Amino acid sequence: MALRAQPTAGAGGQRGGAGGAGMAVPLRLLPLCALLLLPLPGAPRRPPRCGPPCSCWRESALCVGAAGAPRGLPAGLGSLSLVNGTFAEVKDRMFSHLPSLQLLLLNSNSFTVIRDDAFAGLFHLEYLFIEGNKIETISRNAFRGLRDLTHLSLANNHLKALPRDVFSDLDSLIELDLRGNKFECDCKAKWLFLWLKMTNSTVSDVLCIGPAEYQDKKLNDVTSFDYECTTTDFVVHQILPYQSVSVDTFNSKNDVFVAIAQPSMENCMVLEWDHIEMNFRSYDNITGQSIVGCKAILVGDQVFVVVAQLFGGSHIYKYDESWTKFVKFQDIEVSRISKPNDIELFEIDNEMFFVIADSSKAGLSTVYKWNNKGFYSYQSLHEWFRDTDAEFLDIDGKSHLILSSRSQVPIILQWNKASKKFVPHSEIPNMEDVLAVKSFRMQDDLYITLTRFIGDSRVMKWNSKQFVEIQALPSRGAMTLQPFSFKNNYYLALGSDYTFSQIYQWDGEKKIFRLFKEIYVQAPRSFTAVSTDRRDFFFASSFKGNTQIFEHIIIDLSL
Ligand SMILES: *[C@@H]1O[C@H](CO)[C@@H](O)[C@H](O)[C@H]1NC(C)=O
Ligand SMILES: *[C@@H]1O[C@H](CO)[C@@H](O)[C@H](O)[C@H]1NC(C)=O
Ligand SMILES: *[C@@H]1O[C@H](CO)[C@@H](O)[C@H](O)[C@H]1NC(C)=O
Repeated sequence: MALRAQPTAGAGGQRGGAGGAGMAVPLRLLPLCALLLLPLPGAPRRPPRCGPPCSCWRESALCVGAAGAPRGLPAGLGSLSLVNGTFAEVKDRMFSHLPSLQLLLLNSNSFTVIRDDAFAGLFHLEYLFIEGNKIETISRNAFRGLRDLTHLSLANNHLKALPRDVFSDLDSLIELDLRGNKFECDCKAKWLFLWLKMTNSTVSDVLCIGPAEYQDKKLNDVTSFDYECTTTDFVVHQILPYQSVSVDTFNSKNDVFVAIAQPSMENCMVLEWDHIEMNFRSYDNITGQSIVGCKAILVGDQVFVVVAQLFGGSHIYKYDESWTKFVKFQDIEVSRISKPNDIELFEIDNEMFFVIADSSKAGLSTVYKWNNKGFYSYQSLHEWFRDTDAEFLDIDGKSHLILSSRSQVPIILQWNKASKKFVPHSEIPNMEDVLAVKSFRMQDDLYITLTRFIGDSRVMKWNSKQFVEIQALPSRGAMTLQPFSFKNNYYLALGSDYTFSQIYQWDGEKKIFRLFKEIYVQAPRSFTAVSTDRRDFFFASSFKGNTQIFEHIIIDLSL
């Protein structure tokens, strides 16, 4: 780059007296090379206090091979050149003892880093040339405070990326030179791409070294950045200091609630999202005895909670507007239910049902139906199978239930429209010891997950005739394999009683779930996704430890 000073129209006018009292000619009107390398005509030679490695003239100094910022220079110095220096980095406030500098040239040195506030205190700096060094890293606030800077060159360094908003303080910038660097034109450069489009400064071409498709092209010509330059994470949001076995969420009147079954406290605890405190707080407690499940049911604007208990029968509570709490609504006919293990809610032809899977030897998994007054038993499904889970799903427009049992492979029942009952349809062969089946949809395809305690849990896909395995996930004490999604990110949470629980994320390119994160939950029994106030949460219930609430966050990678 040619070191030619240019008339700094506009940006220069307001700085009265910048350059020191003795400056005869405004610095910005002189050819810079003269200022840097040659004594000014008629200026006195080398004031005595300026010694090696520097040569000084009245307004300028040139230091060759300095090991740091030279000391003992005239405080009113207008320009300083440091060349062939041996210092490894430009430290913070490195030149603050020279507050009159209008020009600073740091060429052909060997430093690799420029730290935050490197040029702090240089309120009058207009020209900053940092060329032909080995800079790889520039801190985000390196150029902080340089509001008068008009010319900045970082040419011929080893820069591959610049931190976001690194130029944001440079209000007067007219020219920026980035030649001789090759940038990674990936997410990290997205901000620079956008900044180039809006800045009023003249900027040299910014060339790319990668990704491969953009090698030796200009950043300006990049047409898209991968994956929108974001990733996601789960971070702990709130810890509830009690155990839980089931978590269910429901919306009522624009508020979000969560019902948690707490066996040790004999409670079905209802939490409410607090829009002000931004956390979940206690709303009501439904007390019971050996509660194993709390399931919310919304019928019109009425809110019910089915409370499944191991002893004393199971009951339905209803939210009472006038008492602002849940009150007992009805008992569930218990002759058929002795060991409830799962409650599943569903709707067929606008009618509301739920099914309780019963895991006792003598139990009968039973479907209950809403008849406008209450829920009454509608159909007993099958005897003696020790069902652990029931899943309702729509397969090709038809309603089905999949029952998982301790005694056999999962069976599929189909809703018969004429008899309005479920009838046996098929089974999922060769899948013994499945504790639970969950279904989910992704891009119009139907999938199920099969939880197995030890061995491999499975992910299967419906191929219009049957479910076919697409992935096996090694399970080490798994009681739950829960699919869930937030904002087009699809996940599976695989619980483990013996090690960390694992969250898998769907990889749309490879078409498999990939291990994404491990979380520690003691004896996890269920995972539940809850969304509110445009925030997404993930409840991890624990049979032996605290109940944890994670927040699903999106991280911008274009930094
Ligand atoms: C720069 O420094 C190196 C050693 O540090 C030396 O060999 C070289 O001659 C110097 N170059 C100039 C132009 O002074
Ligand atoms: C560029 O100049 C225009 C016109 O003077 C001004 O409105 C705009 O704010 C400037 N943009 C920036 C980023 O400084
Ligand atoms: C519910 O029970 C928990 C634990 O016993 C208690 O901390 C909380 O205050 C109770 N909430 C209400 C609304 O009574």
